[in-house]
Amino acid sequence: MDARMGTMKPHLSFANLAEINTGLLVVLAADAQTSKEPDARPKPSLLTADKDVKAAAAAVLRSGEYKAGANETLLLHAPDGVAAKRLLIVGLGKQAKITANGVRNAAGTAVRFAKPRGLRSLVLALPESSLLPPGPCVRASVEGAFVGDFDADTYRSDRKDLSVQSFTLAVPGGGDEAVGKAALKAAFAEGVIVGESQNFTRTLVNEPGNKLTPTILGQRAAEMAAEVGLECEVHSTNKLNELKMGAFWSVAKGSEEPPALIVLRYTPEGLAKNDGGPVLGLVGKGITFDTGGISIKPSEKMELMKYDMAGGAAMLGAMRAIALLKPKVRVIGIVCAAENMPDGKAYKPGDVVTAMSGKTIDVINTDAEGRLVLADGLTYAKQLGATHLIDAATLTGACVVALGTTIAGAFSNDDDTFAKFNAALATSGEKFWRLPLGEEYVEQIKSDIGDIKNTGGRHGGAITAAEFLHVFAEDTPWIHLDIAGLAWIEDSRPYIAKGPSGVAVRSILEWVRSY
Ligand code: BES
Ligand code: MN
Ligand code: ZN
Repeated sequence: MDARMGTMKPHLSFANLAEINTGLLVVLAADAQTSKEPDARPKPSLLTADKDVKAAAAAVLRSGEYKAGANETLLLHAPDGVAAKRLLIVGLGKQAKITANGVRNAAGTAVRFAKPRGLRSLVLALPESSLLPPGPCVRASVEGAFVGDFDADTYRSDRKDLSVQSFTLAVPGGGDEAVGKAALKAAFAEGVIVGESQNFTRTLVNEPGNKLTPTILGQRAAEMAAEVGLECEVHSTNKLNELKMGAFWSVAKGSEEPPALIVLRYTPEGLAKNDGGPVLGLVGKGITFDTGGISIKPSEKMELMKYDMAGGAAMLGAMRAIALLKPKVRVIGIVCAAENMPDGKAYKPGDVVTAMSGKTIDVINTDAEGRLVLADGLTYAKQLGATHLIDAATLTGACVVALGTTIAGAFSNDDDTFAKFNAALATSGEKFWRLPLGEEYVEQIKSDIGDIKNTGGRHGGAITAAEFLHVFAEDTPWIHLDIAGLAWIEDSRPYIAKGPSGVAVRSILEWVRSY
């Protein structure tokens, strides 16, 4: 395990709730009120069948002080008839609308409640299986607990590590026999892998530009690959030149820091490298810092542009989970890492560069660098045999204007491929909204001097960026994820710290697993 990550130990228990000896027992609650009358009062009810725990919370639930709203918390000390020292109730909102994703967030809320109070160990009671399917719930709770445990303050010199040391998930009724303990244990193990992989991504995204150069990102990828058993190659300038990656290189050449072309390969056991089956190509934007280059960005909030490698980091986190979960499909992960700087050698507006595919690009704005590195990444993924492509990038401010910071943008040239991605969202709990592509938008990026321009004007900026990538994906089934608005959380939420979110890791993983 990466020493830079948390040390939370997860456990699965089938013991009786009221008998569990712990500093903090967490039970979920929902609002069971179904009346549509405007003055109908909330009816908070615990999602456990344990009579002793219910009795301990009965008075406060009757008081009307607690409404069981989503992630609303209530703490009781020395609950009567229960072995635990404290009982924490976490709300899920309206009972008719509870989901495994709500449980994921509630688990995160419980962990984030414990951390500042120095409570290093907690037990979360899973809701009764009659309310939510236990498998997905087990997985989501473990993921939520890991996500909740992460904090971004890694460089504070007096940092106290308040990580939760022990997180126990208590399954009611000694484990539902219909589902079987083995299935729950498998779901639990999956949740650990996914939660840790999302935090692996967040740890990378959190690193400042001076600490995480393209070279160091390559080293981190190689360390991870060795740990989980992925093939890994990290190339730099020479290879970019050899492959004629003129688009990627044009961005990289303005920095003293050499670029890194990170290539990871996952081959399932028993599958030959080329048997005609699908090969999924995961391509991530890895700009370790985006100054905008010669078309320099305003200084306000520029410090956040260290997170411009979040798409690449998401691919690394997804590859980590893939290596450990072993789906039956070949996967290639490519991260195009560079630093976008203004310099005597930097590319300039008006430059014409030739991409690996042979297409010529008219550089209008050096701040539209992500699409340049991805152009060559997509071409290379196809050359390596990818039959299906997915890319992730903090690509455009325009996507943030269009969809805000709760839903990320998605684009695709293939309805079937996109349908699989959309289905994966039910498991990942993440939100993506498909935006259109179209010939009209391609008009906006036609160039007077070459094949295409790297910007298409203010209107529909997220779409013209996607159409730019489409030129390189061509007819290969492809999904583009624009995560600019979600990769960095500006204000903390009860279940996740402010800072890097690790968005897209879970959705990309589930999409891969659907093949
Ligand atoms: N990395 C930025 C996009 C971005 C903006 C990410 C805000 C996260 C938050 C990207 O490289 C960029 O600068 N895009 C430009 C494109 C424009 C020049 C066509 C943008 O969105 O302004
Ligand atoms: Mn930029
Ligand atoms: Zn950028």
